[in-house]
Amino acid sequence: MNAVDTATVIDMADLPMQHPRAPASAAQARARFFNSGNAFNVKLPEVPARLFAPPPEGRHGVFDCDQSRALDCGFPATTPLMLARYVRIAARDALLPLDVRATGSVWYVISGSGRLTGAVDGFAFGAGDVFLLPGASGYRIEAGAEGALLWTVGNEPQLAFERAQPAPVAGAAIDVVHYPAAEIERQFELMFSCVTRDETSGRALIFSSDRQAAARNLTPTLTLSFNTLEPGTHQRTHRHNSAAVTLVVQGEGCHSVVGDAVCPWTPWATLVTPPGAPHSHHNAGSRGARFLIVQDGGLHYHARTMGFEFLEAAG
Ligand SMILES: [Fe+2]
Repeated sequence: MNAVDTATVIDMADLPMQHPRAPASAAQARARFFNSGNAFNVKLPEVPARLFAPPPEGRHGVFDCDQSRALDCGFPATTPLMLARYVRIAARDALLPLDVRATGSVWYVISGSGRLTGAVDGFAFGAGDVFLLPGASGYRIEAGAEGALLWTVGNEPQLAFERAQPAPVAGAAIDVVHYPAAEIERQFELMFSCVTRDETSGRALIFSSDRQAAARNLTPTLTLSFNTLEPGTHQRTHRHNSAAVTLVVQGEGCHSVVGDAVCPWTPWATLVTPPGAPHSHHNAGSRGARFLIVQDGGLHYHARTMGFEFLEAAG
C-alpha cells in the first residue's frame, strides 16, 4: 500500500482544470476535467431588474431591451432566455426583411396599424392586437398612414445560447396566431363577468392556441398573460423561477417592487423581473391597470422547476 505524502496533498477544490495526458487524437485532446470541488463555483452575474422606455417619437427601427453586457452573454438578451424589443415604423414605411430567430415571438401593437406578410399568411393589424409569429426569415411589416409602434418578445437568446436554428415553418411547434384587440376585449368582459375567490390577486387573461392549449402556453417555452389590477389593490408578493418581461399597457399611479427596488410604471415601459426575485405589483391610481407579461414559464413548467410561491398572505 502506498503511503500518502501529506505534504503534497492539496485541496481538491484547488486543482486546476485537467487535460488528458497523452491524447491520441484531436477529439481526445479536447477533453477537460473538473471535480466536485471546483466545478460548481462558476458565478454568473445576476439578472438586473430594470425598466426600459420605448423609443422616443421620430426614432424608427428596432430597439433591443438589451442587457447582454450585464448578463455577460455574447448575444442580445433581456433575460437569459428572452429578448424584448420595440419596433417603430414610420407612416407607410416597411420593416423588412424581419427575421425571427426564435421558436416564436409574440407581438403587441402599441399604436398605429399595418400589415404583416412574408413567411406566413398575411394579415392586417391594429392597435391593441396581439399576434404570434413562428421563427422564420423574410417577414415584412408595413405600417399604415399613422405609422406603428410594436413591442415584441421572443426566445432568441435561448436559441443563440445553443446556436440552434428555428425549425422550418412547416415543422414548427407553433403556427401564426392573431388575437385582434376586439376579441381580447370580449375575453376581458367575459372574465370580469365572473366571480373570483381572490380579488386582490387581480384577474389575468392567458393566451394560448389550438396547438398549445393542452399546456396553456404560447410557445413551448413562453407564456403570455395580460394581467389586470383594480385601483387601490396590489398583486401580493410572490416569486417564481421563470423570468418575466412586462409591458405597461395602462397604469397611472402604479409601481412594482422587485427585490428591494421600487419601479414606478411609465407609459409603455418594459419591466424585467429576474428569475426567483420576490416581486409585487401595486395600483395606487384611480383606474384599472393592465400589463402584459411574457415569461419563460413553459420551459419551467416542462422542467418542473417553476417554483411558484406567494411570500405574502392573502389580504
Ligand atoms: Fe410574477
